[in-house]
Amino acid sequence: MDAAHTASTAPILILLGPPGAGKGTQARVLEQKFGLVQLSTGDLLRAAVIAGTDAGKAAKAVMEAGDLVSDAIVINILRDRLAEPDCAKGVILDGFPRTTVQAEALDALLSETGQRINAAISLEVDDREMVTRISGRFTCAGCGEGYHDSFKPTTRAGICDTCGGADMTRRADDNAETVGQRLDAYHAQTAPLISYYARKNALKNVDAMGDIARISKDLAALVAHATA
Ligand code: AP5
Repeated sequence: MDAAHTASTAPILILLGPPGAGKGTQARVLEQKFGLVQLSTGDLLRAAVIAGTDAGKAAKAVMEAGDLVSDAIVINILRDRLAEPDCAKGVILDGFPRTTVQAEALDALLSETGQRINAAISLEVDDREMVTRISGRFTCAGCGEGYHDSFKPTTRAGICDTCGGADMTRRADDNAETVGQRLDAYHAQTAPLISYYARKNALKNVDAMGDIARISKDLAALVAHATA
């Protein structure tokens, strides 16, 4: 990471949680409210798959199976994105880190610029609702706004509330079988990060079941405090 590009006081927030916990939904709200940049390694990997880069080619089948992409690929992608000038505003990491190796790599990257993690926020959810959330998800291809058939429908059928676009997409890995594998990967490889950040006194917990707007409010209060 280029120290010239990232001010040492820029906030660094991490959203932890299983697939469907609402990381992407809430990161977009926080991005706008606090002027931060959402960095989703899932989005970066999907862009690499579409672009047909070497990383994308290596990641495609792994993602479709619901497994984790290799630490080396993800850390490289994240490092490059963090070095871009807009990240100097501060970032919300959505879906990274996902393993202890990634968490340690992030610590090393941040130590180069004298930055610190303001908060690692664990979105506390019930696994049983996650399949329902994910199987109803769709996203605007134009602006990336996320929706849900039942829990967050568009106001006008098929038309994005944010940008007015009509091209809605569903992810290849959003099916019941792959979601089960993604949940297993979360519990085996990512859940241990909750105690990793608790040991660093960076962990915050938010009840992420229930109303999306209520969760946004709880998160905003927590982030305001953590970045003050
Ligand atoms: P990624 O894209 O990160 O997917 P994920 O972690 O599985 O998380 P999701 O995007 O599915 O869920 P979310 O928590 O963002 O939920 P959302 O807000 O959309 O990763 C995909 C794949 O890429 C991985 O499987 C892996 O292969 C690879 N990968 C990515 N990062 C990696 C890394 N660091 N290392 C290795 N591999 C990596 O909400 C879901 C739905 O629910 C939406 O429809 C939403 O509208 C709705 N919803 C949200 N909140 C609520 C609520 N409170 N009540 C009801 N509905 C709600």
